[in-house]
Amino acid sequence: MQIRPLQFGSVTIENPVVLAPMAGYTDAAMRTLCLEHGAGAVYTELASSEGLSRDGGRTFCEVLESPWPEHPVAGHIFGADPDRMAEAAKLLEQDGRFDWIDLNCGCPVKKVVSRGAGAALLKDLPLMSRIIEKVKRSVSLPVSVKTRIGFNHDTADHLEIARMVEESGADMIAVHARLAKNFHGGDPDLEKLAGMKQTLNIPVIGNGGAFTPEDAFRMVDVSGVDGVMIGRGAVGNPWIFEQIRQGSRVACDTEPVPQATRLLERRDLMAEHLKRLVALNERKQEMIPDRAKRYTPEEAACIQFRTHIPYYVKGLFDKKQLLMKLASLMSVAAIMEEIDILMEKNK
Ligand SMILES: Cc1cc2nc3c(=O)[nH]c(=O)nc-3n(C[C@H](O)[C@H](O)[C@H](O)COP(=O)(O)O)c2cc1C
Repeated sequence: MQIRPLQFGSVTIENPVVLAPMAGYTDAAMRTLCLEHGAGAVYTELASSEGLSRDGGRTFCEVLESPWPEHPVAGHIFGADPDRMAEAAKLLEQDGRFDWIDLNCGCPVKKVVSRGAGAALLKDLPLMSRIIEKVKRSVSLPVSVKTRIGFNHDTADHLEIARMVEESGADMIAVHARLAKNFHGGDPDLEKLAGMKQTLNIPVIGNGGAFTPEDAFRMVDVSGVDGVMIGRGAVGNPWIFEQIRQGSRVACDTEPVPQATRLLERRDLMAEHLKRLVALNERKQEMIPDRAKRYTPEEAACIQFRTHIPYYVKGLFDKKQLLMKLASLMSVAAIMEEIDILMEKNK
């Protein structure tokens, strides 16, 4: 497999193995850790174009805030109204932190689809096209689309979608190789992904089911895509980016370094992740000082970290104990104490 630097507009992704947008996970803490471990680029969590263009900055603080410089980073937005999407894209451009704008045209969750946005756009290609065109005309940053191979078998097929996205002016496309109706289940359809790649002149990033370097290499070998996007495979495992970059065809869960070193590395990365979540929450609370605060930044960080811990401790002996206690651990010290006990047992 050969992955070469990927370029679109003013953006160059040296290592086109990128972190997928994942609501509830890919905040600035996870994004920066992934960038430091070799991710070629990151996407923010999903931000509502309605919110961005109406709430005077709160959506920025909630979803897009980052205390740290991160590059390359895409501002990832959703919506069904071309004017609002264009306004939101302009706001992100004016903010100056984003390298490009990404339009969500594939999210299947009810909250998004019921507003005619996300994957619902795959049932209305003329509207999706108008959104891409309007955003593209409104900003000078490059514009990409994150989408799927289709909504279901009765709606527009993958090749119609691919042609429309390119003709509407998008500079790059990332394709989750599953139908929206299948959410995240089933095997990705690499043949359809290959069909889209062959149809398009703009760069194509493939996505779906890459949990090991081997999966990523297979996606590129079979479909010919220009890059790979990793979602769930990076949760609790930012090392996956380095492993792919090094061209290792070794599965992620094998041990290239001694077990004790890996345990220490895992432990230290969890500590760093927690530290960044605290800093991120401190920043958010400073930015919205009038908001009633139910939790301190440290407590909020501990709650957010609960969704990551099961992935960090995957495969470890006797992890159940820690996972059962998680809901009661509301300080960094308490979480780290339990993690240290677990690491000791696994030495
Ligand atoms: C918890 C979760 C949240 C997600 N949030 C988003 C999102 O906000 N925007 C988006 O385009 N895709 C979202 N996705 C989809 C991922 O970006 C990715 O397309 C999907 O997980 C398939 O890739 P994977 O098999 O590597 O995980 C989400 C997926 C998960 C599991």
